[in-house]
Amino acid sequence: MDAITKIINTNLQENRRALIRDMFKTMKQYNVIAQEIKGRKIRVSENHWVIDFASCNYLGLDLDPEMDIDVHENIEKWGVHPSWCRLVASPKLYEEVEKKLASLIGTETTLILPTVTLISIGVIPALIGKSGVMFLDKSGHETMYEAAKIARDSGGILTSFEQDDFEALEKLLIEHKENPRKIIMVDGVYSMTGDYVNLPKLVELAKKYEAIIYIDDAHGFGVVGENPDHKMPLGYKGNGIVKYYDIDYKNILYVGGCSKAYSSLAAFIGCSNEMKTFLEAFATPYDLSGPCPTASLATLLKGLEINEKKGELMRKQLWDITKKGIEGLRNLGFTVFNKTGFPIVSVHIGNTEDLITTANMLFDEGILVTVAPFPMVKKGDECHRLTFTSANTEEEVDNLLKAFKKVKEYLDKKS
Ligand SMILES: Cc1ncc(COP(=O)(O)O)c(C=O)c1O
Repeated sequence: MDAITKIINTNLQENRRALIRDMFKTMKQYNVIAQEIKGRKIRVSENHWVIDFASCNYLGLDLDPEMDIDVHENIEKWGVHPSWCRLVASPKLYEEVEKKLASLIGTETTLILPTVTLISIGVIPALIGKSGVMFLDKSGHETMYEAAKIARDSGGILTSFEQDDFEALEKLLIEHKENPRKIIMVDGVYSMTGDYVNLPKLVELAKKYEAIIYIDDAHGFGVVGENPDHKMPLGYKGNGIVKYYDIDYKNILYVGGCSKAYSSLAAFIGCSNEMKTFLEAFATPYDLSGPCPTASLATLLKGLEINEKKGELMRKQLWDITKKGIEGLRNLGFTVFNKTGFPIVSVHIGNTEDLITTANMLFDEGILVTVAPFPMVKKGDECHRLTFTSANTEEEVDNLLKAFKKVKEYLDKKS
C-alpha cells in the first residue's frame, strides 16, 4: 500500500465521515454536474432536468437579468482579481462596498474577506489570544467550531452549550467571570432549522457578564431585516438578524455572508473602527491570505443596488413561496423543522436507509435537495433540507409537493 492510500484508509477507519462518503456513492445525486441552467432548473445529464431546491441564492440574484450591468464596467476598471493580500493594497471598490455594507447594517465600519469560514478562523483566534474563553452554541455552524479549535490550540478555553439553554450558558459565564476575553459564538439563523438566535436573551447575558457575541449570520444577511411586521414577517432591507431584533451592536460582532442571498463570493464583519484596525493586524486571512475577487465585489455592489430597488418584492416572493412549500409538506403529513418561515426547510426522514431511497426517488422525479445524513445531523434527525429562493416558481413548488407525495406513499407503505 502506498503512503497516500495508507493515509486515506487510516482516516476512513477512524472517522465517522466515512459513512457519508459511502452513502453518497449510492446516491443518484452524488456530485451533480450542471450541464445547463434555466432559471431554477438544472440539466444534469443528456435529458434529465431537476428543479433546484438546494440553492441558497435566496434573493435569486444569481439569475437576475440586471446583474450583468455595471459588473462588466467594474471588471474593466479593476481586473477580475487583485493578487495582493489585503494588508498590502485593496482596489478602491473594497472601500466603496465596505461603506455600503456598514450603512446597510448600521455599524461604524465593515471588513471584507472572501468567506465566512475565513473570517471565523481569522477573527476568533485573534480575539481569544492565549487564554480567552469561548462559549460555543452546539447548533452553531461547523466552521465556527473549526475556528474555535484553532483558538484552543493557542491556549483558548472552549466551552459549549445547547441552543437556547441560557441557564447552562449563564453558569459557564459565571465560572469564567474574571476572564477579560469572553466570546459567545452563535448562528444568526441556524442552517438546518431556520431558527433565529434568541438575541435579546443573549445580549442580556453578554452585558451582565461583559462578554461579546460573535454572530455568524451567513444565512440571515439579505433575508431577514429591520421592523418585521405581519406584511413582511422577514422584516425590511435584509440588513440582518441584529436589525431584525432592533438591538444595538455594543456587545456584538456581526458576520454577514454574501455567497448566499447576494450570490457573490464575499463575507464581512461589521464592527467599530477600533476593532477593524485591531483585526487588520491580528486576523491572519487579512495579511496572509488572498482577497475576494473584484468580480465578486462588483456583483455584490450591484446586488446591494438591486436590493434597494426591489429587495422587499424579492423577500415577499421568497416568504410566499416558502410558506406554500412548508404548508404543502405538512399537509402531506411530514414533520417539517421550521418555526420561523425562513426559507430553510428540513423534512424529517429519520434513518439513513430511507434517506437514500427517498433522495433517489426525488431525484428521479426531478427534484434536487440537500441530503442531511448522520453524522452530519444526530442519529434519528436525518432529513432532506430544502432551501427556497425568490427565483423558484409556484409551479416548481407544485412539482416538489407531487414528488414528496410519492415519497410519503412509499414511506407509509413500508411502515
Ligand atoms: C451558518 C453558516 N456559516 C458559515 C458557512 C460557511 O460560509 P462560507 O462559504 O462563506 O465560508 C455556512 C455555509 O453554508 C453556513 O451555513
